[in-house]
Amino acid sequence: MSTQLLKEINKRKTFGIIAHPDAGKTTLTEKLLLFGGAIQEAGAVKNNKIKKGATSDFMEIERQRGISVATSVLAFEYKGFKINILDTPGHKDFAEDTYRTLTAVDSVIVVIDVAKGVEEQTEKLVEVCRMRNIPMLVFINKLDREGKDAFDLLDEVEQKLGLKVTPLSLPIGMGSQFKGIYNIWEKNIQLFVDENKQKVGEAIKIEDVNDPQIDQLVGAQFASNLRDELELIESVYPKFDRDAYVKGDLQPVFFGSALNNFGVRELLDAFIQFAPMPQPKETDVRIVKPEEEKFSGFVFKIHANMDPKHRDRLAFVKIVSGTFKRNENYLLVRENKKMKFSSPNAFFADKKEVVDESFPGDIVGLHDTGSFRIGDTLTSGEKMNFTGIPSFSPEHFRFINNADPLKAKQLTKGIDQLMDEGVAQLFTMEMNGRKIIGTVGALQFEVIQYRLEHEYGAKCSYEPIHIHKACWVEADEKSEEFKEFAKLKQRFLARDKKNQLVFLADSSFTITMTQEKFPNVKLHFISEFRRS
Ligand code: G4P
Repeated sequence: MSTQLLKEINKRKTFGIIAHPDAGKTTLTEKLLLFGGAIQEAGAVKNNKIKKGATSDFMEIERQRGISVATSVLAFEYKGFKINILDTPGHKDFAEDTYRTLTAVDSVIVVIDVAKGVEEQTEKLVEVCRMRNIPMLVFINKLDREGKDAFDLLDEVEQKLGLKVTPLSLPIGMGSQFKGIYNIWEKNIQLFVDENKQKVGEAIKIEDVNDPQIDQLVGAQFASNLRDELELIESVYPKFDRDAYVKGDLQPVFFGSALNNFGVRELLDAFIQFAPMPQPKETDVRIVKPEEEKFSGFVFKIHANMDPKHRDRLAFVKIVSGTFKRNENYLLVRENKKMKFSSPNAFFADKKEVVDESFPGDIVGLHDTGSFRIGDTLTSGEKMNFTGIPSFSPEHFRFINNADPLKAKQLTKGIDQLMDEGVAQLFTMEMNGRKIIGTVGALQFEVIQYRLEHEYGAKCSYEPIHIHKACWVEADEKSEEFKEFAKLKQRFLARDKKNQLVFLADSSFTITMTQEKFPNVKLHFISEFRRS
């Protein structure tokens, strides 16, 4: 085991920020980059979200696609660590993108708006993190505004998100009365030092909460409230335990205001202390450890070139083990194909550059003309596939037809490549070979139509079909029970891109009835499941 590789692994922290739109993800990202010296001024990270009111405009998605290449991976150095932030769109039409990105992070920061509390997208994304035991830090943002009581919010986080929290900081006042933050973890107080609440003072060390200095700093009333609250915290919440956090069993909570730069440095300092370095990952044959000399990694995102004339794409690969080297031969396991990359990209805050070497935890961008598919594994030669990069059931379904018979080939190729990119999922009906597109957001249909025409010169039309959910089928295909199921449901059976059998159910009632009638035919809402 080389010591250089170990040093590089120990330096790296790769994480995502998850939040409901508008909670402050972009603002927080920007402040983190400012601390890392990666950008010089606020506003440098392009706004990567869909503006309110523009959601019916699919060109907005195209705009988003352009910007999200730039913000896909933001890297910076801080106190000797290399930090990689992976972009996770909060908009629900991009939920699948975010789920996939969560397969490539080693931890996350959850941002919650103090006034709005736990919102819908946060619930969904945290659930995915919980399923995978991803370590989570919670940042409650916008304390400069009137919001919910800190303890009510902690309750809400526990109940709605199913987390076990331990506050590591506490706000002193809120909204117009917001004075600062008591940092439980580092035992200090930070206060605003000007009337306009723009400037934050140095941290003042407080060894003992009964120190009368607190009264002088924030006034007797706030000091007394703070002492009561700290007492309550000690009696109600568990003590912070890093192992429990890393296992995903305990989530520390910080309060602050990203906009005013309050509590952000504390969050970052705690993050570099607690957050795990690159973690081992499971494959279909064994668990791969980062410190193994041989390179391995997987594709979690594919971006098509914005210029339709150039059919090249950028595949984002998370390095799991070993050193990735430029111009070295690697194996694309699914195709059993050797590949060499002459210009792999590394990402920084505002640019990408060709690199010679990358290490576990890093993301490399590989140029490709259509070989990669999301979930693909690359290795130094070993035949194994990383698991845990599933598809989820889409929410919207339509038949897709060829609208220009002379362009059938282009249409097939276009659909194929867009599906590899993960824009949508394709299902082929068992009975007659008709093709169905499934998407998370309704907007994706327009995007597909537009991109097929502009990038592949093909035309498509859609036809409605009533499907509630795609259920991946797990069954003994030789059993009588399965044969009966297949006969009865033949009009609703299809294959996904990996040739897995899928039951396209028209209602939740149908799913319940089918499960009752065929208890040994298991239906899953996710394409990857442990065979029972
Ligand atoms: P997002 O990426 O999670 O969608 O949120 P973003 O950071 O874009 O923040 C959403 C809005 O909330 C922005 O205002 C931003 O300025 C504001 N905001 C973020 N953090 C804080 C905070 O700590 N306190 C207060 N008061 N506001 C905060 P906007 O008016 O929607 O956008 P903009 O025109 O300022 O960009």
